[in-house]
Amino acid sequence: MTMNPFDGAHAPYVDLNSLATAYGTPLYVYSADGFIASYQGFAASLSALDSHIHFAVKANSALGVLQVLAKQGAGADIVSYGEMKRAMMAGIPPEKIVFSGVGKTDAELASALTDGIGQINAESSAEIDHIMRIAEQLDVIAPVCLRVNVNVDPKSHAKISTGQRSTKFGIPVDDGQAKILYKAICQNPHIKPMGLAVHIGSQLTELEPFETAYLELLGLADRLRADGYDVPGLDLGGGLGIDYATNQPVDFASYGRLVTRIFSNRGYRLGFEPGRSIAADNGVLLTKTIFVKDGGDKRFVIVDAAMNDLLRPTLYEAYHTIDCLSPRDPHPLPADIVGPVCETGDYLGLGRTLPDVQEGDILVVRSAGAYGAVMMSNYNTRPEAAEILLDGDKVHVLRPRRTLDELLALEHLPL
Ligand code: LLP
Repeated sequence: MTMNPFDGAHAPYVDLNSLATAYGTPLYVYSADGFIASYQGFAASLSALDSHIHFAVKANSALGVLQVLAKQGAGADIVSYGEMKRAMMAGIPPEKIVFSGVGKTDAELASALTDGIGQINAESSAEIDHIMRIAEQLDVIAPVCLRVNVNVDPKSHAKISTGQRSTKFGIPVDDGQAKILYKAICQNPHIKPMGLAVHIGSQLTELEPFETAYLELLGLADRLRADGYDVPGLDLGGGLGIDYATNQPVDFASYGRLVTRIFSNRGYRLGFEPGRSIAADNGVLLTKTIFVKDGGDKRFVIVDAAMNDLLRPTLYEAYHTIDCLSPRDPHPLPADIVGPVCETGDYLGLGRTLPDVQEGDILVVRSAGAYGAVMMSNYNTRPEAAEILLDGDKVHVLRPRRTLDELLALEHLPL
């Protein structure tokens, strides 16, 4: 089982306070060893299968993180040509890259095909028409997989659920569209059929929706094969959730057993697109207390990280564990940990038990390695948090904080 590298019990050598002093706050800190352990844990759980792991770059696209994973042999799941560029810069070869997403532009498709992308997961009949035309113009064969919609509720937050018919994702299986389109791509000379893909959502904390979705996918694949069509692979997406409340390690083994039970000896090459389960626990956000404000029956701990640095609490009411790194006496009142942005929704945690936090104290926001830095913005003209990577006893700055001059450099005064 993998361990949380930022859990003090396992990593007393990570002195987060001195990192905050040396590199300033707000600061994202990642653990290279943690990323490697999680990646290997995921891979080990699938060792009985013909499987290929494409890290979902959207979860953490820092070049330095992608490079660590590239050296482990990871491929990439991307959703824009920008992410493809990152993956390739980090050393992931194009043939190990899968292009997902409902709205790839012609320019993106052409660039990806020219670079030799390994697989495009198409999500509509319109997209397939565009791929065929572009492949013909470029005189290349496009490797196309069909992302299907199996109408399964992943039992996750509505904004990150993708499995139901009501969402924009995938081609429906139940009305026969997926079967018709798969047969169409098999007959086009500019397309190489790669198989079928499914991804029903993110932060799934139960295995049962995966099982339902995977059995639907397998059923369709078997029916297509029975009709004589070539279905070489099945892409099983990402979605495996983490335990934000207790920070227990991800149970890769149970997921691996489920997949092995369903797919072993079926003759399909399997693809996986994990993001959060590889990245989340291997990063933290450090933030410094600016003020502590009396809120009557609670305290407002006002910190220098805000919704522009970590959007998840604001956008999904997401819970992240937050601890104070200074030894302080207990405090009877609950604390709202809030940022400086002028919105009530700007908070990192509400109603928390925190000790008697003082100005200058560093707080650690845990499980921030996935969908943290990638979702930053400059709202309120706040430069993004910096990002560093711990690698053994070395510290690499992956992205320094921009100065205000750098932040404003691309703008023009029109008058
Ligand atoms: N594959 C596809 C096609 C996806 O859309 C996603 C995530 C993944 C793989 C990776 O899923 P994961 O293993 O990370 O669950 N910003 C949200 C999460 C959005 C997920 C979008 N798609 C959050 O902060 O919770």
